[in-house]
Amino acid sequence: MSDLFRLPPEGVERVPVTYASRVLMGGPVVLVTSTYRGQSNVMPLAWHAPLSSKPPLIGISIEQSRHTVDMIQHAQEFALNFATWPLLHHVQYLGAMSGEHIDKFEATQLETFTAARVSAPLIEGCAAWIECAVEQVVPIGDHVLFVGAPLAVHVDREAFGERWLVGVEEKRPLHFLGGNQYAHLDRVMEARSPARGDAPEAFLAAQLAEDLELTQEARERREEQLGQLREEIEAGRAVDITALAAEGLPEFARRIQILGPNTPRGDSAP
Ligand SMILES: Cc1cc2nc3c(=O)[nH]c(=O)nc-3n(C[C@H](O)[C@H](O)[C@H](O)COP(=O)(O)O)c2cc1C
Repeated sequence: MSDLFRLPPEGVERVPVTYASRVLMGGPVVLVTSTYRGQSNVMPLAWHAPLSSKPPLIGISIEQSRHTVDMIQHAQEFALNFATWPLLHHVQYLGAMSGEHIDKFEATQLETFTAARVSAPLIEGCAAWIECAVEQVVPIGDHVLFVGAPLAVHVDREAFGERWLVGVEEKRPLHFLGGNQYAHLDRVMEARSPARGDAPEAFLAAQLAEDLELTQEARERREEQLGQLREEIEAGRAVDITALAAEGLPEFARRIQILGPNTPRGDSAP
């Protein structure tokens, strides 16, 4: 790498530093449950992170004014419930209300079951659950970081094997993008793992060759589609070249125009 000044690539724009937390969004939403003196509360939370593997520790960051902060401070424990997309509207609702004013469990009628190690309830319809004891409480800016030691972890086997499965749609965790926007994972991709001693150029060249093969495959598929279209035209059936172009097949549209006359969509010949 030379140390010459380089402009960012086209389309890259600098945004205010407050965007840092928004850019970090996209992790699975958890519903934090807590119980103190027989009262339970639940709030959605996006700001969580694994912090240590030995010992296992995780962190959740909660804005100071949330009722959940008081609940966890007193209870010294909490549970994380990994929401699935059928809970989408519940999540948004729970994030708009404070347990200081209403009983959110009563309001939403969420079904719960008993945790193994903490008094906070676990919510049905979630994909995984982590029960935690509070290890440390760290004030950070306008938030409080609760460092939790997992006491028990449960997973729905249709959602999680050794890792998230991204299988049955209703069992996929809900990911928070910010505002009222959510997403869920779409597919699993496997990256090539370098063998010990692989030179980077050789490793990446092998990957490039594979990509080229894929391109070749795509090209063959296009040729096949074109053949089918040619047959349609020869049989006198209508082919809408405007639609083809709109579908990102301008090359098709152009070649078909060369191949012969066509009629607009709707005018199909028998
Ligand atoms: C999807 C989602 C994620 C949220 N993530 C956080 C978060 O990470 N930290 C936080 O303090 N508040 C977060 N909130 C806001 C709280 O959930 C919200 O203020 C809630 O009403 C607090 O409830 P409580 O006062 O009963 O504790 C989030 C809200 C939503 C909808």
